[in-house]
Amino acid sequence: MVVVCNNSMGVGVEWPEPVERVQKLAESGIQHLPQRYIRPPQDRSSSLSLSPTGVPVVDLSAGNSMKVMQSACREWGVFQLVNHGIPDTVLSSAMNASRGFFDLPMSEKQLYANDPLTYEGYGSRVGVQKGILLDWGDYFFHHVRPLSHQKQHKWPANLPHFRRNIDEYCSRVFELCKELLGIFSEDLGLPKGCLVERFGGEEQIGLSCRMNYYPKCPQPELTLGLSPHTDPGGFTVIIQDDNLCGLQVKKDVVWVSVPPIPKALIIILADQLEVLSNGIYTSAEHRATVNKERERMSLVVFCNPDGEMKIGPVEEAVAAGRGKALYEEMSFNQYRQLIRTVGTKGKSFVNSRKGS
Ligand code: OGA
Ligand code: NI
Repeated sequence: MVVVCNNSMGVGVEWPEPVERVQKLAESGIQHLPQRYIRPPQDRSSSLSLSPTGVPVVDLSAGNSMKVMQSACREWGVFQLVNHGIPDTVLSSAMNASRGFFDLPMSEKQLYANDPLTYEGYGSRVGVQKGILLDWGDYFFHHVRPLSHQKQHKWPANLPHFRRNIDEYCSRVFELCKELLGIFSEDLGLPKGCLVERFGGEEQIGLSCRMNYYPKCPQPELTLGLSPHTDPGGFTVIIQDDNLCGLQVKKDVVWVSVPPIPKALIIILADQLEVLSNGIYTSAEHRATVNKERERMSLVVFCNPDGEMKIGPVEEAVAAGRGKALYEEMSFNQYRQLIRTVGTKGKSFVNSRKGS
């Protein structure tokens, strides 16, 4: 018997339809995509346009890094970070750990199957609306910080180095996140520790990890690996596979590819930073495309405010900008639940918090 109970947001513990693993579909050798993965023509990856300028690259060791980062946060909501101080070996071990999970036999991965209540574990969709379009990708999602939020039983038990490699990478990323929050604070004219505080203080800053696996796709031009969305939290740190394009960001009205730079980290500003900065910063809408010849992986770390924190524009940012708070205050938990229920929808969630 399946017991479906609802939490206060009305989300059941079961997905509305049986879950298909994209990896399994891909490995079955199908030549034509099932209908549920086929997007309307205007939403397909072939709608990519070229931007005259590429995604900004910030060299953390260079003298002009602040200037490049300032305009990237305001105009793009995304930049690639080089010379960030995280050793190459730590990056490659973390990518190998993620790969190790998807290389496990399907029966073992299924032990970690997730549900829409927490999303933690092995998943293949976002949103619980019956019949929605599906993305050509599987993921493994879990919380890393605060340590009390880690669910040990959701971490793969039979991968000896998984925990060590991911923990090591995430502790480096955590240091980098605090550094970036300090830089963003000062850039916004706030006291250096302001954003860390607005995230709930150092101990409460959330880090979650999402490993994405995009199998080879027989008809990549008809589908996407990940639908257009903004990340709901503070900001996001991504390692993508070398030598393989896939991530794209929307700049004004065109989709721009984020080309792989070996050892670089991609930093994507997310919705809570747009709100806290009162729109001085913008969260970047992004999506992922898939390939016929090669599978692609990415390792994504979300840096989030504590779930209970009410997030609204910081007074100093309001004063420095338009003098009026443009976004409604809301707790991060409430906001995240909206997306988890409805699924991804471009920038519509953050835009809906704007008053008139
Ligand atoms: C995400 C994401 C991009 C990628 O997981 O939120 O945007 O390239 N991933 O996989
Ligand atoms: Ni994202």
